[in-house]
Amino acid sequence: MTVAIDLGGKVAVITGGSRGLGREMAQAYAAAGAHVVVASRKQDACDAAAAEITESTGVKAVGVAAHVGDWDGCSQLVDATIDAFGKIDVLINNAGIAPAYDSIESVTEALFDKTFDVNLKGPFRLASVAAPRMEEGGAIINVSSIASVRPKESDLVYAAAKAGLNTITKALAQAYGPRLRVNTIMAGPFLTEISEAWYTDAWRERARSFPLGRAGRPDEISGTALYFGSDLSTFTTGTVLAVDGGRTAMS
Ligand SMILES: NC(=O)c1ccc[n+]([C@@H]2O[C@H](COP(=O)([O-])OP(=O)(O)OC[C@H]3O[C@@H](n4cnc5c(N)ncnc54)[C@H](OP(=O)(O)O)[C@@H]3O)[C@@H](O)[C@H]2O)c1
Repeated sequence: MTVAIDLGGKVAVITGGSRGLGREMAQAYAAAGAHVVVASRKQDACDAAAAEITESTGVKAVGVAAHVGDWDGCSQLVDATIDAFGKIDVLINNAGIAPAYDSIESVTEALFDKTFDVNLKGPFRLASVAAPRMEEGGAIINVSSIASVRPKESDLVYAAAKAGLNTITKALAQAYGPRLRVNTIMAGPFLTEISEAWYTDAWRERARSFPLGRAGRPDEISGTALYFGSDLSTFTTGTVLAVDGGRTAMS
């Protein structure tokens, strides 16, 4: 059996595609031949990432500024993608934020709402506006977190929003199958901007006892993202898959 991932002619939208895990997934999709839309709040950052992707792979990449916590912004992102490429095959709901707080009592309504807006409301809204316009055989991929199953006092708002993302994955898979597949990557520790504050020296020391003994490199998300977005996973939907170096395998 020969296995090659060829996404030539496909169109993928990656939210939070300007840096971190999203940037890696955008690059990997382009390397597999897909045209990509790089979306984040900052047009300049999206344009820069899109230009680098086109330069390095030759595919057409477009940057679109979109705030995924904004209901109308989500539909505008879908419209912009259809305008640029005429279709959508893969939607990767990757953009996420994890604002820090000092104590449960100090959590403000604004922090709570912002966290849910970006991590849960946005992916729901994007799926609901994109799915009816996506190509048959297409895939929606959400990026959640192991915090959703290992919540801590210090990240419970984020954890709850990501747990919601795990949950809607299963319902969206039912709603949009068999035309589309919907799966979630439940990410563990990866060394990106969002995680700089989390993975201290003390954390890295503790991480030595994890099955793979370390945090992930951002590019180590790409294999799973390509799997869920390609014909390698045609019988997989409604799944929440941990990509976490074995962290959640530990008691
Ligand atoms: N890194 C980890 O250890 C880890 C662990 C578990 C789960 N995750 C999840 O993995 C995903 C990616 O994380 P990362 O580590 O790559 O984060 P990152 O390095 O902080 O990058 C976040 C990306 O999302 C964009 N973004 C932020 N808010 C947005 C909004 N409201 N609308 C649109 N785009 C927005 C950012 O660009 P702009 O600032 O320009 O908008 C950036 O492109 C997130 O969902 C995160 O929760 C990460």
